[in-house]
Amino acid sequence: MAKRLVIANWKMNGDLALVRQTMESLRAEANVDVVVVPPAIYVAALSDASSAAFSTGLQNVSQFAAGAHTGDVSASMALDVGASWVLVGHSERRAEHGESDGMVLAKGEQALSAGLSVVICVGESLEEREAGNAESFVRSQVRAQAACLRQAGAIAIAYEPIWAIGSGISASSEQAVAMHKVIRETVREVAPAQADEVRILYGGSVNAENAAGLFEHPEIEGVLVGGASLDKAQFAAIIRAASAAAS
Ligand code: 13P
Repeated sequence: MAKRLVIANWKMNGDLALVRQTMESLRAEANVDVVVVPPAIYVAALSDASSAAFSTGLQNVSQFAAGAHTGDVSASMALDVGASWVLVGHSERRAEHGESDGMVLAKGEQALSAGLSVVICVGESLEEREAGNAESFVRSQVRAQAACLRQAGAIAIAYEPIWAIGSGISASSEQAVAMHKVIRETVREVAPAQADEVRILYGGSVNAENAAGLFEHPEIEGVLVGGASLDKAQFAAIIRAASAAAS
């Protein structure tokens, strides 16, 4: 199995003190790739210090290469300051900024062509799940990214059911594993050559207590962590759980 991938998404949280604390305290563990994704304004400072222990990423990137796009940051700028990953299509971006599947695709393609690795975020709402539509919803989100998935480059897909994000209610391992299988099948259908390279992550209320249970399942190849990534002890425990599961 490829190394497990543990990603901290700080969202719009953190400050220079957390940047410094992360630089000082985050330790590498065997068989785990760690990525820290702070707000864009802190990426350069954190990337300066990123080392064997972790790499850095952006929470969003422009769908354009350059030009008159006030407030946006391009993929090549992210690379320029030392970031190596970018998240695209997080449900908060889709909901608060009206990001469509088409925009998410354009962002992913920009990132890959600049040489960044990409995490494509997908996941259904509670309404979709309760209506029995979770699988078809997620399948269609993955299919919409087919052109990106067919490209060479490092790609992960994060399954983040919206009802599990920030709610304290993680999906059960069974729910996550079932959806990860659906995602793998869908990638195989639209991008067969890349299907085994794509790492599939789970996100949504991952914490120090539930991480080990999630990592018991080989289908869960990593996690995307919001709230618990702001707490250095919890985040370190999640990284250790990923490492212990691999050994
Ligand atoms: P929480 O871990 O805070 O639920 O957030 C998950 C998430 O959205 C990570 O991208």
